Amino acid sequence: MDNTLHKIKSVPDFDNNIYYLYDENDHKLTIPRSVAIILDGNGRYAKKHNIERAKGHEAGCKNLEVILEEAVKIDVKFLTVYAFSTENWKRSTLEINSLFDLFFMYLNKIRDKAMKNNVKVQFIGDVKKFPPNITNECNLLSDLTKDNSGLIFSIAFNYGSRDEILRAVKRIYCKNYNIDKLTIEDIADNLDTYNIEDPDLLIRTSGEYRLSNFLLWQLAYTELYFTDTLWPEFDVNEFYNAIYSYNLRERRFGGRSNS
Ligand code: FPP
Repeated sequence: MDNTLHKIKSVPDFDNNIYYLYDENDHKLTIPRSVAIILDGNGRYAKKHNIERAKGHEAGCKNLEVILEEAVKIDVKFLTVYAFSTENWKRSTLEINSLFDLFFMYLNKIRDKAMKNNVKVQFIGDVKKFPPNITNECNLLSDLTKDNSGLIFSIAFNYGSRDEILRAVKRIYCKNYNIDKLTIEDIADNLDTYNIEDPDLLIRTSGEYRLSNFLLWQLAYTELYFTDTLWPEFDVNEFYNAIYSYNLRERRFGGRSNS
């Protein structure tokens, strides 16, 4: 994949309170409505800078604040991030606890920002298996922001796609659907992501080329963008470049090109 960095300009439109992106040839970029990110590489960032793993995750948290703010500015409608997977329980207790401490602080910290930016925060995954102080914070934040009409920011906590699909199947069973008439929409309506659009663009940082059980159903027609950059170093220009790359794709959704 060609990940050459381009110089993308962001130009404010003060009337509409958003920024437009332009490439080096002054072409206006189309902004993907729905963006998903696999935040990977905090550990390697820590190693690279000779700091503790927890500090790497802290840097990852700070970067998420920056990218969230940017997503609001350029008018992304849905941002979905993979913060803790159903497989992350395999990590050491020390690391898991440091992640929980960070999540607690982060959720507190973004409260004002979410309100100021009209962001609705919600959680996907089986969050109730998290410690009560975190689930309380999650409930507080989703409750506080539930009527916000701007970007929907979905944080995947204790999330795994296969687990999500299994929970959806159980829900469908309990709701007594007529199985012969079950549709694809019925399944989508029972996933954790029932109220968000399927991602147009998926970004995975740190040079891994896999989906790691993230949004397997929802990514069916998503454009994938992989970069070697570690998540804490994935800055605004890198984000713009992912969008630039998205603009070079021809999306056919299984159909044929018009040209
Ligand atoms: C990947 O780094 C990241 C995670 C396991 C998730 C933690 C994410 C954050 C702390 C970012 C902030 C998110 C929220 C919602 C507060 P890694 O440990 O897998 O890195 P490595 O592959 O380099 O070891």
